Amino acid sequence: MGAVATTFMAGVDLIRRGVAQPVGSLTQLGTIRLGKRTDNRSPALRDFVPLADIEHLDFAAWDLFPDDGYTAARKAGVLSAEHLEASREFLAAIKPFPAVFDPGYVKRLQGDHVKRAGSKMDLALALMDDIQRFKRERALDRCVAVWCGSTETFRPPGAVHASLQAFEEGLRRSDDDIAPSAIYAYACLRSGVPYANGAPNLSLDFPAMVELARREGVPIAGKDFKTGQTWMKTILAPGLKARLLGLDGWYSTNILGNRDGEVLDDPEAFKSKEVSKLGVLEHILQPHLHPTLYGRYHHVVRINYYPPRGDNKEGWDNIDLFGWLGYPMQIKIDFLCRDSILAAPIVLDLCLFLDLAARAGMSGVQEWLSFYFKSPMTAPGLYPEHDLFIQLMKLKNTLRWMRGEDLITHLGLEYYD
Ligand SMILES: NC(=O)c1ccc[n+]([C@@H]2O[C@H](COP(=O)([O-])OP(=O)(O)OC[C@H]3O[C@@H](n4cnc5c(N)ncnc54)[C@H](O)[C@@H]3O)[C@@H](O)[C@H]2O)c1
Repeated sequence: MGAVATTFMAGVDLIRRGVAQPVGSLTQLGTIRLGKRTDNRSPALRDFVPLADIEHLDFAAWDLFPDDGYTAARKAGVLSAEHLEASREFLAAIKPFPAVFDPGYVKRLQGDHVKRAGSKMDLALALMDDIQRFKRERALDRCVAVWCGSTETFRPPGAVHASLQAFEEGLRRSDDDIAPSAIYAYACLRSGVPYANGAPNLSLDFPAMVELARREGVPIAGKDFKTGQTWMKTILAPGLKARLLGLDGWYSTNILGNRDGEVLDDPEAFKSKEVSKLGVLEHILQPHLHPTLYGRYHHVVRINYYPPRGDNKEGWDNIDLFGWLGYPMQIKIDFLCRDSILAAPIVLDLCLFLDLAARAGMSGVQEWLSFYFKSPMTAPGLYPEHDLFIQLMKLKNTLRWMRGEDLITHLGLEYYD
């Protein structure tokens, strides 16, 4: 029930009532080309695949603070007073269930709207009860979960994450290596609820959860919403690589003043974010194939907590590149963005696409949704695809495949027919 979640929920309400437009949402505004370019077939994406209608969505949340949606949105400081008031009644009716929380995993937060149960398995069962109650009371057919909770401290996957059996035993003995976000993920998957992870902590990016998702026939996706600086990076880096321009260094820094920024001020939480942000260039530039161009670049990422900016992040990038005969050049980016405004449409799209995937019988890691993530989950042994445009092509081709349309490869074969 933080900045991203409340901005998403209020946004859906405002859009449904015609007060605002779903800018940034592929499911609401995107089109998809079908057949040859000369066919002139580009239906709206939501007419092409049977997505749930946003009119039919209902919302629930968990949080360690008892604030209702209106109070939480007001404190998050993202929406204008005008939008907040327009959505007041809707937001105020959303009251969070008590959270599964462990201060060891998010050091900067303290709240007492939390579940107290015996073991971590008991906590998972309590979450499953919440899901069932929500579905029953609102007479819902299906649910989808998106983790919009705080970033948890960095922990690499260990023995307890290696198999479902080890994980369930770990839940029963309350293994310290099982994070709250993983308990939510477990409860959702056991309830048949598709789950996307918007934060960089593991949550479900480990073998036990992939096994559970496959067993339950549930689609999953993650991790870490690709919004500001990394989104920009995955647009620009493929451009440098396409022209085989070299890179000496890429220095990225941010100032951010929301609660997410405060949580990330803790070095252990930042470590989760850093790992997620640093991987991107390596995979796009492929230094092993181009050692002279990309073998020795410096990549630095910093996030500085600076309260005056609130949710309005400023991200600077300095890129030291080199061209023909090794001559140096520079690119500077100063992106004055709004974190939650960029993230909210991603949450909506993930809800609708995961729900579609579940109805289409797709389960396990949904790589075609890599488009939305900084650190995309992949099938075991595969490296992730980070190039935004390849990701978009993969997403749209998956939709074409679902509907039995020809995949578009941009090979221009129509000239040879
Ligand atoms: N906004 C973006 O552009 C963006 C991009 C990528 C990732 N993210 C990630 O999305 C997440 C949400 O971001 P935000 O700006 O909304 O942060 P936020 O701090 O405003 O909201 C997080 C909420 O999660 C709650 N929370 C923490 N642990 C919880 C638990 N165990 N159970 C239930 N609730 C819990 C907090 O109380 C808070 O209300 C963060 O992890 C952030 O790193 C955001």
